[in-house]
Amino acid sequence: MGTGASAGVASGLSACSDAELQACLKDIPREQRDKVVEALKAAGGGGKRTAVLGANWKSNPKTSAEVKDLAAAFVNQKFDRSKVEVVIFPTGVHLMALKQQLGDSGIEVGVQNISKTGMGAFTGEIPAAMAADLGVTWALIGHSERRALYGETIDDTVAKLKNAQEAGLKVMFACGESLEEREGGKTDEVNKAQLEPVLGLVSDWSKFVIAYEPVWAIGTGKVATPEQAEETIANIRAFVKEKCGGDVADKVRIQYGGSSSPDNIEGLASRNGIDGFLVGGASLKPTFTGMIEYLTR
Ligand code: 13P
Repeated sequence: MGTGASAGVASGLSACSDAELQACLKDIPREQRDKVVEALKAAGGGGKRTAVLGANWKSNPKTSAEVKDLAAAFVNQKFDRSKVEVVIFPTGVHLMALKQQLGDSGIEVGVQNISKTGMGAFTGEIPAAMAADLGVTWALIGHSERRALYGETIDDTVAKLKNAQEAGLKVMFACGESLEEREGGKTDEVNKAQLEPVLGLVSDWSKFVIAYEPVWAIGTGKVATPEQAEETIANIRAFVKEKCGGDVADKVRIQYGGSSSPDNIEGLASRNGIDGFLVGGASLKPTFTGMIEYLTR
């Protein structure tokens, strides 16, 4: 199989889950099957995209003792990093204690908000380079609460993405529509407007994840239906394809966020193209481990 042919087959198979891929190749002896899967991956596709599970703790929990208890519950959860990346975004004040408590569990820590500026006279800001220096590996950018409550503009998200990338941080980039925008049929338009200025700036697609978070589903208990999440994420992926090409669209991981929990993960995760979750409230409970476990199957 030539490179061109394998790349074509690979991109065709890129939406398959591991199980589906194994089923396609079931008549091939096991050893050769593994080699074919590896070749497909090397060609830029094949196999499932590694899931990403984010825990956005927002301004919670209240005490450092609670942080410690949650960390203790999470570190005991075994998971396979080749199947799911797990990252917790605590507040800036809990960052280092949490990082130490997570130890070598494989669970990473990220910052909920980084500065659009660098080092210098910027009171109250956390520069990306300082976070990276402490061993923080992710930054969350563009969360709707930052956009709506703290006036974060699209230009700000662009500046933050540049800073995060320069510091070597992985980025979870959030987008999503309000209820009014959804009801007005503007969902795709809003997501495109929030994503368009940043897509062309991404320097490493393995370190850039899109978190689709419909604002009306955040903290409301009103989770998007699997059909709504699948459809909107497919439209986001089609937009990435239009702007950055098919290979990038096959590769980029897109999460769903908004009232997701261990109770509803199954219906959502079984849908095509949903590569993980960004979780708020449910990540502040020890049962969050159920989501890690689900994605590591
Ligand atoms: P909830 O899971 O509490 O709805 O929050 C989602 C969210 O905003 C994650 O960033």
